[in-house]
Amino acid sequence: MHPLTRITNKHLLPIYDKPMVTYAIDTMVGAGVDQIMVVTGGVHAGEFFRLLGNGHDHGIDQLFYAYQERPGGIAEALSLAERFVGDDRVLVMLADNIVEESIRPLVDRFAAQDRGARIVLAPVDDLEHLRHLGVPELDADGRVVRIVEKPAEPPSRFAVTGLYFYDPSVFDVLPTLRPSGRGELEITDVNNWYVDQGTMELDVLEGFWGDAGESIDAYYEVNDFVRGLRRRAGGRPAG
Ligand code: G1P
Repeated sequence: MHPLTRITNKHLLPIYDKPMVTYAIDTMVGAGVDQIMVVTGGVHAGEFFRLLGNGHDHGIDQLFYAYQERPGGIAEALSLAERFVGDDRVLVMLADNIVEESIRPLVDRFAAQDRGARIVLAPVDDLEHLRHLGVPELDADGRVVRIVEKPAEPPSRFAVTGLYFYDPSVFDVLPTLRPSGRGELEITDVNNWYVDQGTMELDVLEGFWGDAGESIDAYYEVNDFVRGLRRRAGGRPAG
């Protein structure tokens, strides 16, 4: 997304008529989440304050912020939320992910789950696209055997989306992680820990899913989708 990211944070770029991050917030708030911590970094972090303030205009009851000192990965970002989450369960949503449907049923299923974690899959046919994502290998019963990050040979035609549900044991896993080849603490390593424990459950999205921050083409694909959706709804603002 360079050089756009020289002038703002990727997650503040417009998707149709709103900054990207507000779609993730609307998705979570629409599912009943009203305590949120935004983890961000870089030189444009202050812009999130200007956009979201105390969160009340966005349906957030309590909004917290954390600052990630360097691009250390999604798992490192999650570790900054440890005191915020405490002994609760947590939903992590990457701010460049756009989902069409309500995730309330997923939240309900996670609440009903004894313990462990939950990932959310989306069908993706394009092999080249899958090579830029986390991809699960599934067994005959549809359970995850392992997740491969950015696989040269994708083991299925599903992407692991940027929505993750964790019980509080995630904060015991995070300190055990080692940086990957790209120098980041990988959320896929966290997820594979739950897979190994046998406590990873999954959902498959039915509607549109897009990762608007993956590339400039993905960004425009998501913009086209949201614009089409909004036009069909008579131009009414969503959220
Ligand atoms: C991250 C995850 C990847 C996941 C993707 C979804 O990728 O590592 O497993 O499929 O988000 O948006 P990244 O954006 O760090 O390349």
